[in-house]
Amino acid sequence: MQIQNNHSLKNFNTFGIDAKCKRLIILESEDDIVDYFDNHNNGNKFLLLGGGSNLLIKKDLNYDVLMLTFKGIKIINDDEDSITLEVQAGENWHKFVEFLVNNNYFGFENLALIPGNVGTAPIQNIGAYGVEQEKHFISLRGYSIESNQFETYTKEQCQFGYRNSIFKSKLKGKFIITSVTYKLSKTDPPNLSYTELENYLIQHKLEATAKNVFDSVIYIRSNKLPSPSELGNSGSFFKNPIITQIDFNRILSEYSDLRGFPQNNGTIKISAGWLIEKAGLKGYRVGDAAVYEKHALILVNYGNATGHDIWQIAEYVIETVFEKFRVRLEPEVNVVE
Ligand code: EPU
Repeated sequence: MQIQNNHSLKNFNTFGIDAKCKRLIILESEDDIVDYFDNHNNGNKFLLLGGGSNLLIKKDLNYDVLMLTFKGIKIINDDEDSITLEVQAGENWHKFVEFLVNNNYFGFENLALIPGNVGTAPIQNIGAYGVEQEKHFISLRGYSIESNQFETYTKEQCQFGYRNSIFKSKLKGKFIITSVTYKLSKTDPPNLSYTELENYLIQHKLEATAKNVFDSVIYIRSNKLPSPSELGNSGSFFKNPIITQIDFNRILSEYSDLRGFPQNNGTIKISAGWLIEKAGLKGYRVGDAAVYEKHALILVNYGNATGHDIWQIAEYVIETVFEKFRVRLEPEVNVVE
């Protein structure tokens, strides 16, 4: 375990916010986790940081920030059709996906280039281009702060939803994921359910292989989403709202280009990016905090924005969209202070 006092988090959050924490605690093994909670935490508040890619730090944190660094991919089962892998929490998500594609294990190629670590992927059930991590999820292991024990959670127990899981609700701040087990296929064809992805392959005359999907997703994402190493951001800042059919019809009567994605229970998911753009806020900027000019769902830090500056833009977006559409956007990122 490494403990560093009053440490800046600038390099540990993709927004590049220069906030400090009371202590930065690097946990290098499961034993370190036990040691930390037995001897160093004293029941105090803490924040577990994954890749820092889904996080807005509003101000200096007067509590501990924990980072897990342990890595490794272990084969649990290997047969003709599939492979089951246990992946340690500190593995970088994109590197894991790249490893899968290079070894012809299919299923996660659509999730290329999502920033963050494997251990935090289940928390918000990361998803993109028609695939969510729950699709190939088997179970996860982690440390329960309430029972002081390592426990295993099945897919059902995780209660995955759209950018959601039990780790964002009931178990928020109470459970530390240490490894995740996924089952990938050796035979499944790629998932091309996302129209933009399918169109891209057709236009570029690319065969529907996992490698081509992987490369295409990288291309599409890089063109649309700013790379955190060049421009501070946290991916989609808001969730795409899910509204009633009545509200959908109300907005559609004014805007014929509104697109909706029907959900199982009769509600409809609409694009937050579209709402923000129609509210005239694409590219809206105050100081170094802004709505990204190429994709309205992303808030960006042009250099020296504070967490507070970004949050003010977020609040302005929420208010303006609500006034115009009577739809309340909710942050997708974890906002902490
Ligand atoms: N749109 C606009 N203006 C904008 C941006 C988007 O009108 O400025 C509309 C367009 O009509 C577009 C539609 O929104 O067709 C959807 O946009 P996009 O395909 O970029 O997807 P998204 O709904 O904005 C979601 C995820 C992304 C994921 C993409 C691709 C959420 C909150 N976001 O974005 O995930 O990469 O789909 O599957 O569900 C993330 O979670 O950080 C993230 C980047």
